[in-house]
Amino acid sequence: MNAAVNQRLREELDQFKTDGVYKRLNYLDSPQDARVQMEGRGEIIILSSNNYLGLSAVPEIIDAGKAAIDRFGAGTSSVRFICGTFTIHRELEHALATFVGTESSLSYVSCWNANEGLCATMLGPDDAVISDALNHASIIDAIRLAKSISKCRAAVYQHSDMSDLEARLREFGDARTRLIFTDGVFSMEGDIARLADILELARKHDAIVAVDDSHGTGVLGVTGRGTPEHTGVLGEVDIVTSTLGKALGGAAGGFTASSEALCDYLTQRSRPQLFSNALPCTVAGSALAAVRYVQEHPERVQALRDNATYFREQLLALGFAPLKGDTPIIPVILGETSKAIQMSDMLLDEGVFVTGFGFPVVPRGEARVRCQISAGHTRDDLDEALEAFKKVGTKLGLV
Ligand SMILES: Cc1ncc(COP(=O)(O)O)c(C=O)c1O
Repeated sequence: MNAAVNQRLREELDQFKTDGVYKRLNYLDSPQDARVQMEGRGEIIILSSNNYLGLSAVPEIIDAGKAAIDRFGAGTSSVRFICGTFTIHRELEHALATFVGTESSLSYVSCWNANEGLCATMLGPDDAVISDALNHASIIDAIRLAKSISKCRAAVYQHSDMSDLEARLREFGDARTRLIFTDGVFSMEGDIARLADILELARKHDAIVAVDDSHGTGVLGVTGRGTPEHTGVLGEVDIVTSTLGKALGGAAGGFTASSEALCDYLTQRSRPQLFSNALPCTVAGSALAAVRYVQEHPERVQALRDNATYFREQLLALGFAPLKGDTPIIPVILGETSKAIQMSDMLLDEGVFVTGFGFPVVPRGEARVRCQISAGHTRDDLDEALEAFKKVGTKLGLV
């Protein structure tokens, strides 16, 4: 690498360190689970993973991945339409569509790719996309890409503000297609999209709705079918995108679920499908087993809900003020970024891994540690973590 480029990058990295925003990687030497082995630290309770149902280390899900690699091999070896599509992809896509309540679905190597593949493919210069202000980075970048590739129009509405959304829908009244794009669960706040209200506005203004349910799939709804189930609109959302890499326990992977026509159109035209390899078969195998597991074990979803309620109540009892909500994402707002990083470091010293987030990931002055609860946590895990919160919170003068 050119020395001047390395020098510039090193200076910027040093500045990240000075600003307290440098991300240090913690290496794990065991499967993702409620407790992990962290290199140099030993056993640590993880309170910041997306392993909401604790499926990452479930033997039958791991075995399904092994069986798929044995049957289909290590590589997909090219793009699906060029060298062949594996039957396990078809089986997975059918299971995912049934699970999230749509006619069809199409898998991608990540939900990031699914989101990027959606807007730029289905929208053109006559169309418009309207996005919630707190949507995930993958939606924001998907829309940026669509604006530049397909020249669609775009606007942002204030977070969960239905009158602002309606104003934007009116603004684009002349568009051929109006697409409203929202997260199902907003990952930094842990709050839930007002899907029933969004759908009502969509019907009124002849728009369609896409929900990225990455933090809702397997998490919300009595049977884990996501934000649409939780908000009483299962089967009514036009497009659901989601990840296989969070509650569904997978290494990676994402999908777009919708009508057969849209999924076929994406198969024909979406660039991540046409120019990038398919999901590895081992990942498809594990994901398929995970979907079946959730369908057979709704009590796991209930356990997640119970754990999240318990942890939230106990944090309140200790004197912390977590953001209100009904999801297993429980942010504790601390103000300055340095405070969030300090608390995160001190919790790690007590054996609890919770990540601190500051500006620009969250608004300035709203830095936080974000707790994520799993069905895999036992009450002992949660109580030990709460004890660490009490100790660190007292030292920092927070409680
Ligand atoms: C709302 C949302 N969408 C998409 C993604 C990306 O998912 P993947 O890891 O499958 O690309 C994430 C991951 O953090 C997310 O939170």
